[in-house]
Amino acid sequence: MILNSKKEWVLPPYKIKAIEPIYTLCREERLKAIQHSHYNTFLLSSSDVTMDLLTDSGTSAMSDYQWAGLMMGDEAYAGSCNFDHLEEAVRDVFGYHYIVPTHQGRGAEHILSKILIHPGDIIPGNMYFTTTKLHQELAGGTFSDVIIDEAHDSLSEHPFKGNVDLQKCEALVQKVTAKKIPYVNLQACVNMAGGQPFSLENLRALREFTHRHRIKIILDATRVVENAHFIKVREKGYESWPIVSLVREICSLTDGCFMSAKKDALVNIGGFLAMNDEAFFTEAKALVVIYEGLHTYGGLAGRDLEAMARGLYEATCDDRFVAHRIQQVEEFGRKLMQRDIPIVKPIGGHAIFIDAKRFSPHLSQDLFPAQALAAEIYIESGIRTMERGIVSSGRDSKTGKNIYPKLELVRLTIPRRVYTQEHFEYATHVIHEVYLRRREIKGLQMTFEPKQLRFFQAHFQPIPCC
Ligand code: F0G
Repeated sequence: MILNSKKEWVLPPYKIKAIEPIYTLCREERLKAIQHSHYNTFLLSSSDVTMDLLTDSGTSAMSDYQWAGLMMGDEAYAGSCNFDHLEEAVRDVFGYHYIVPTHQGRGAEHILSKILIHPGDIIPGNMYFTTTKLHQELAGGTFSDVIIDEAHDSLSEHPFKGNVDLQKCEALVQKVTAKKIPYVNLQACVNMAGGQPFSLENLRALREFTHRHRIKIILDATRVVENAHFIKVREKGYESWPIVSLVREICSLTDGCFMSAKKDALVNIGGFLAMNDEAFFTEAKALVVIYEGLHTYGGLAGRDLEAMARGLYEATCDDRFVAHRIQQVEEFGRKLMQRDIPIVKPIGGHAIFIDAKRFSPHLSQDLFPAQALAAEIYIESGIRTMERGIVSSGRDSKTGKNIYPKLELVRLTIPRRVYTQEHFEYATHVIHEVYLRRREIKGLQMTFEPKQLRFFQAHFQPIPCC
């Protein structure tokens, strides 16, 4: 039963038309599968997974309207009418004038970083995201974390843990000068902090600060609809604003955005870069043809562009959609908290994050407690989750040393419109079972480490003695 804060029923604003079967392996088969996958949930076959909470990226169930749009794909190499529809949707919903489609978010991050970052530049952001930071570094820049301190504390109940700390920004400008800061990377519903939003008040203050120093704000709009929902329910004065108006308001306070459309735009593939500055657009168009495809398809089929255009409207024009989505995540988190499972608070937008440091205090961070817990949850239940801790943080690009993040988390990410309450009841039950025997969880050692974004492909094995 899902009730909102006013104790009203929150029903899914959709019903199921097509289904996909789920298969379940027995425990011995799951143990073999995780051993074969080197204790890395990214290396599991999806057919070995009972409930897939690896990511909310590209895993949404599309609507019948979006599927119908796939049949309307105009697969011309140039000037597809589906591009026109997408351009119109981005102008309507976000308000930016120019759009460059890309195959997914990181395609847009690549082009953005190549254009705006010069070697030696510093890019402040409200916490890092893995691919975003890597593209900044590959372009010669260095990421600087300017999120408020509360974001690094899994117990802080701050309602806007995604806020930027303006004092940290001011100190950075004093240290390196504004000329070295091409833009602030502002992420909506900060992923690595637990899906935590920023407030409009904070964004307005950031806009004032960046105007004063002639620094751009580039929004990572990947989860901007969810951020808009949190503003609506948590920030005074916006209760009656439609989600689409809040999204427009956020975008109007920035200079451009990149988006992985695989999340809030409800598609299985796609992304884009959008802006108002014509010179920036011209440069982006020149690069997209090299790395992605012509500027009217950017690595996507016409049908994908159509599904994305329809998804953008669908996600923002019926407020019940995002309200139900967030309530579903919150209800799941509440159930886990009732069983004492330590999770990041407040419950965020797209996922529940288990605090592995508090779940398995017997394991030091060098023993990859979150990676080990993700493997254990899979063995117990067939549920696939993801590590978001020391493995994801990787190494310092200059010193080569491991980065030790304060947050050592396991992410249980909720795909949009895919699972029902029964699935979450199962997940709650089995995670509690793991919690009851948590002291048996063994640490891991890394036996293969890729150079970049190691969490995707690294190999591990249990250390028997700890
Ligand atoms: N920005 C954020 C905040 C993201 O969460 C992601 C992807 C990207 C950018 C890159 O987009 O995957 O389309 O290339 N996040 C996925 C996740 C991978 O599981 O959180 P992409």
